Amino acid sequence: MTFDVAALRRDEFPWAERGESIYLNNASTGPLPERTVRALAEWGRLRANPDRISHDLQFDTLTRSRALIAGLIGADSSEIALATNTSFGINLAAFSLPLRQGDVVLSPQLEFPANVYPWMQLAARRGVEYRQVQCDDGVLDRERLARELEDERVRVVTVSWVQFASGARVDLTALGTLCRERGVYFVVDAIQGLGPLTLDLKTTPVDILACGAQKWLLSPWGAAFVYVRRALIEQLEPHDVSWLAVQDSDDFSRLLDYDLKWRNDARRFEFITLPFQDMAGMNASLELFASLGKDAVSRHTLGLAAEIIEWARSRDDVELVTPDDRARRAAIISVKPSDPMAASQRLTAAGVAHSLREGAIRLSPHFYNTSAEVRRALDVIAR
Ligand SMILES: Cc1ncc(COP(=O)(O)O)c(C=O)c1O
Repeated sequence: MTFDVAALRRDEFPWAERGESIYLNNASTGPLPERTVRALAEWGRLRANPDRISHDLQFDTLTRSRALIAGLIGADSSEIALATNTSFGINLAAFSLPLRQGDVVLSPQLEFPANVYPWMQLAARRGVEYRQVQCDDGVLDRERLARELEDERVRVVTVSWVQFASGARVDLTALGTLCRERGVYFVVDAIQGLGPLTLDLKTTPVDILACGAQKWLLSPWGAAFVYVRRALIEQLEPHDVSWLAVQDSDDFSRLLDYDLKWRNDARRFEFITLPFQDMAGMNASLELFASLGKDAVSRHTLGLAAEIIEWARSRDDVELVTPDDRARRAAIISVKPSDPMAASQRLTAAGVAHSLREGAIRLSPHFYNTSAEVRRALDVIAR
C-alpha cells in the first residue's frame, strides 16, 4: 500500500507544497500537520472557558493517546505512561529499576545526553557504575554486547535505537534478546527511530522504551510516552509520585483517603497534570500515521533516505557518515562534503532546513517530503 503524497502535502503540509521551505530537519523538530494545528486551536478555544471541557473529554483524550501509541508499537494500552518528554522515561528507568551499588549500567558511546545524565546521576547517588563502551561505527552490535555481558555485574543496557548525529541504528531484536536471555534490563530511547521505522514490541524484547513525539511523530512539544513491559510494571515503584498514580484516585470524591496503593498499570508512573491539549494534538498526528499506514510511511521515508545514500556513494568528494548498510540506518543521513560549513550556509540560503552535527550535514526527510526536494538539497550541497 502507498499513499498520495501530493494530496497529503496539499491537505496537511500546505507550506511545503507552496515551497516555503524544504524541511529536511525532522530529527530536530517535526512539523505539525494541519489537523494537529486545528486540534490545538480547538483546545485553546475550549480552554478559554474551561467549563466547555468536560472531565470525560479531558481524560478520554489521554485514554485515546495511550491506545494510539500502543497500536503504533505493538503494546497494550496498560503498558503506556504518557509523559512530556523522552527524558522522563529515561529517568523512570534509571531511578525505578532495582539497582544497587556495584551494579553496572552499560551504554554505547555517543549517546544523546538525555540518555547519559540520568545514569551519571544514578551513579553519583547510588554507587552504580555507568559504563560507556566504544563501538565500531558507534553501533553496539550483538557480538560486542555478548562480550560485555560476560561481566555479570551488568544489570542494564541502555541505548538509542537510532543515534542522533550519525543516524546509526542498532538491532533492537538482537540486543534485546541477548539481554532477556541474561536477565539484563533493556532500555531504549526510541525518539530518533519511531515513525521512519516501525516497531512491534510483541516480538521485540524491550523492558522500558522512552520516546518524545515532537520529532518524527510530528506532535506538539510536551507530548511523549514511556512503555514499560507488562511483567515489569508491578515490580517497579514510581520514583516520582503523582496524586493520580494510586488506585481509586479516579474517584475525586475520595482524594483525602491517602491510600498509597499503586495502580497496576503503567499509569502508576504518569505525572499528572499532563498537557491535555498537546496530547490531543498528538492524537491528531498519530491518527494521520494510522490512516496512511505505518508501513507505507516507513517505506516512503526510508526510500528518500536511500536516495541520499545513493548520491553520497556516487561521489568521491562526499564522505558518508551514516552506515551504508540499510539494516544499520533509518532516516537520519549525515554526509560530510569537503566544506560542511559552507554547504550548510548554502542550504540555509536555499531554504533547506537541515542540521550541522559533529561536523557533518544531517538530513532527515520524512513521509511528506518528495524526491524532488531531496534532489534539490543534494544539488545545493554539491554546488
Ligand atoms: C536520541 C535523543 N534522545 C532524546 C532527545 C530529546 O529528549 P527530550 O525529549 O527529553 O527533550 C533527542 C533530541 O532532542 C535525541 O536525539
